[in-house]
Amino acid sequence: MEIRSLLQYHQAYKNSVEDPEKFWGDLSKGFLWHQEPSKILDWDFKKPEVHWFSDGQLNITENCLDRHLIDKADQTAIIWEPNDPGEAAQHISYQQLFDRVCRFANVLKRHGLGKGDRICIYMPMVPELAIAVLACARIGAVHSVVFAGFSSTALADRINDAQCKMLITADGSFRGSKTIDLKGIADEALKRCSSVQHVVVFQRTKQDVSMEPGRDLWWHHEIEQVDSHCPAEVMNAEDLLFILYTSGSTGKPKGMVHTCGGYMVYTTFTFKTVFQYQPGDLYWCTADIGWITGHSYIVYGPLAAGATTLMFEGVPSYPDMGRFWEVVEKHQVNIFYTAPTAIRALQKADLSFVNKYDLSSLKTLGTVGEPINEEAWNWYNQNIGKDNCPIVDTWWQTETGGIMISPIAGVTPLKPTYATLPLPGVRLVLMDESGSVIEDNDVEGRLCIGFPWPSMARTIYGNHTRYRETYFSAYEGYYFTGDGCKRDQDGYYRITGRVDDVIIVSGHNLGTAEIESVIDEHEKVIETAVVGFPHDIKGNAIYAYAITREMVENEDQLRSEILSLVSETIGPIAKPDKIQFVPGLPKTRSGKIMRRILRKIASHEYEDLGDISTLLDPSIVEEIKKGVL
Ligand code: PRX
Repeated sequence: MEIRSLLQYHQAYKNSVEDPEKFWGDLSKGFLWHQEPSKILDWDFKKPEVHWFSDGQLNITENCLDRHLIDKADQTAIIWEPNDPGEAAQHISYQQLFDRVCRFANVLKRHGLGKGDRICIYMPMVPELAIAVLACARIGAVHSVVFAGFSSTALADRINDAQCKMLITADGSFRGSKTIDLKGIADEALKRCSSVQHVVVFQRTKQDVSMEPGRDLWWHHEIEQVDSHCPAEVMNAEDLLFILYTSGSTGKPKGMVHTCGGYMVYTTFTFKTVFQYQPGDLYWCTADIGWITGHSYIVYGPLAAGATTLMFEGVPSYPDMGRFWEVVEKHQVNIFYTAPTAIRALQKADLSFVNKYDLSSLKTLGTVGEPINEEAWNWYNQNIGKDNCPIVDTWWQTETGGIMISPIAGVTPLKPTYATLPLPGVRLVLMDESGSVIEDNDVEGRLCIGFPWPSMARTIYGNHTRYRETYFSAYEGYYFTGDGCKRDQDGYYRITGRVDDVIIVSGHNLGTAEIESVIDEHEKVIETAVVGFPHDIKGNAIYAYAITREMVENEDQLRSEILSLVSETIGPIAKPDKIQFVPGLPKTRSGKIMRRILRKIASHEYEDLGDISTLLDPSIVEEIKKGVL
C-alpha cells in the first residue's frame, strides 16, 4: 500500500481504525512467510498481552536479504563510510551482504548457538555490526546490541540481565580523533559475566589486545572455517527477535523485547511511508545501531524494503564540522535522517562548512529522538534542505519499535516543531492528570496510545510485572508513553518532553535514578538528586545535587571523582554538566524529593517556585539557591 496524497493518508488511517485486522493483514501479504498468518491480532492491555500474526512463520532475514536476490542481487545494500575520510568507503551488494551474513551465522552455529540464545553485540559502526545483527536473526538467536559508548559496568549489567552466551565485539573503535579500547572494556565487563562462553573479536583498529585462549576468537579466522550456506531458522511471528535496553525511572535499565513478525511489518511499512523511499534512492540515517533508530531504520526497515542504506562510522565534527555534508555530496544522499542535537551543534559552526558542498541530491530530511526547537528546524530547512525538502519530525520510542507520529514526506503539510499526525494504526490519546481522556483540540496532556500496533515491545525481558507497571498502570487500558504532548487546533501533535524521571540528553534516554545511584556510591556522598536543565545544543543537560557526608574541602577534586565514577559505570554520555554540593534536598513530609523545585533552580528560574510550604524544611531551598551553579 502506498500513501502518496493527504487524501490517501486519511483514507488509510480510517481503514486502519475501522478494521485493523484487515489493514495489517493486507500489509503482511507483502512479505515472505513460511506460513502466512491467519490470526492477525490478539490483545489485552490489562494483562498486558499483545500478539500479532501469531500463527505466521517467517525469518526476517529472508525478507531483508534472500528475497532481494532475485532482482537486486547487485544493488548496493549498505554503503559504509568510515570515520576517517582518507579510508575507502565500502559498497556491499545484497548478494555480498547475504553471503557475509550466512557465513557469520554459520560461525555462530559452529559454536553451538541457536534459536533463543542471547548474544550481546558491542561493536563500532562497521558493516560487521549489521552483519552480526542479521546473523543472529538468521539462526533465531536473540541479539542484544549495547551501544559502544557504554562503560564496562553498563555492558556487564546488560549481558547478565539477558544471560548472553556470546559477546561479539571489536579490538577497538575509531570515533573522531579518538580510539576506544573496546576489547579492554569488554574484558573488564566479562570478569563479572559467567554466562559468556565465547567472545568473537572483529579486528578494526589493529591495536594490541589480549585474547583469552578457549574463549576469545578472531572474526577473520572464524569466517574462514565455515561456508556461506545457511538456511534461515523458521521463527514464529511472536518469537523474540531482539532485546534492547533503555533507561527507566528506576536505576535498572529495561530490556525491551521485540518480536519477529509485527516488528518486520511495521518498520518496513513506516520506512517506506514516512520517507517515501523510491527505488534507487540513497538513504542515510546517522544514528548508531546501538539505539533503536539504528535497529529499525538502518538495518531492518531499509533492508526489508530493498533500499540502499548508508552506515557512518564517524562523528559529525571530525575532521571538521562539514563532515556530514561532505558525505552527502560524496555519496549523493537523497534522504537524510538525524537528531536535533546534531543539527544544533552543526548550526553553531560557520555556514561555510555547509556551503562548500553540493547538497542538491537531498530530497527529504528527518529528525528523531527529542523535540526540535524552531530555530534548529528553520536552520535545517533553509541551509540543508534549501527550502526544498520536507522535514519529517518522527516521534517514537525504543518501546514502540517504529515511528508513530510523523509527517509523510511531501504529503503531510508541515508545521515546524510538530511531529504532526499519527501514522495509520496509531491511536493517540491525551490524558489529563486525573486519568480522563481529553477530547478536544488545542489542549495539552500526557500522551497515551489506546490500541496495539505491530512493532510494540511485548515485555521487559524477565520482568513482565515491571512492563505492566511502567506502561499500562498509570492509565488503565492504555499504553503510557511518559511524554507530555500538545494537540493544536488542527489536530497536530507536538511533543513537549518527558513527564517522568527520564532526561533526554543529546537524544539519549537517561534515567535520573540510574545516575543518582552511581553518584551515591561515592564514599563522600550521602544522597543525590539529578534533574535536567535546558541546554543550547544537547537539548537538556544534567544537573546533580549531592549531599556530602562532611564539608567538602576540594570541590573540584570531588567533582572530577564523581564524573569519572559516572563515566566508568554508565558511560560518558551520563556525566552531569553541573554538580552542586548541598546541605540537604527539598523533600516533602513523606520523603519525596520535589524535583520540580530542583529543575527550576537548575534552570535559574527561581523567582517563583510555587508553593513550597509542603516541604519538610522549606529553608533548604534558600540554601540551594545561594549555591546554584
Ligand atoms: O521523549 C521522547 C523523545 O525520545 C523518547 C524516546 O527515546 P528512545 O527510546 O531513546 O528513542 C529515541 C529514538 C526513537 C520519547 O519518549 N523523542 C523521540 N523522538 C522525538 C522525541 N521527542 C520529540 N520529538 C521527537 N521527534
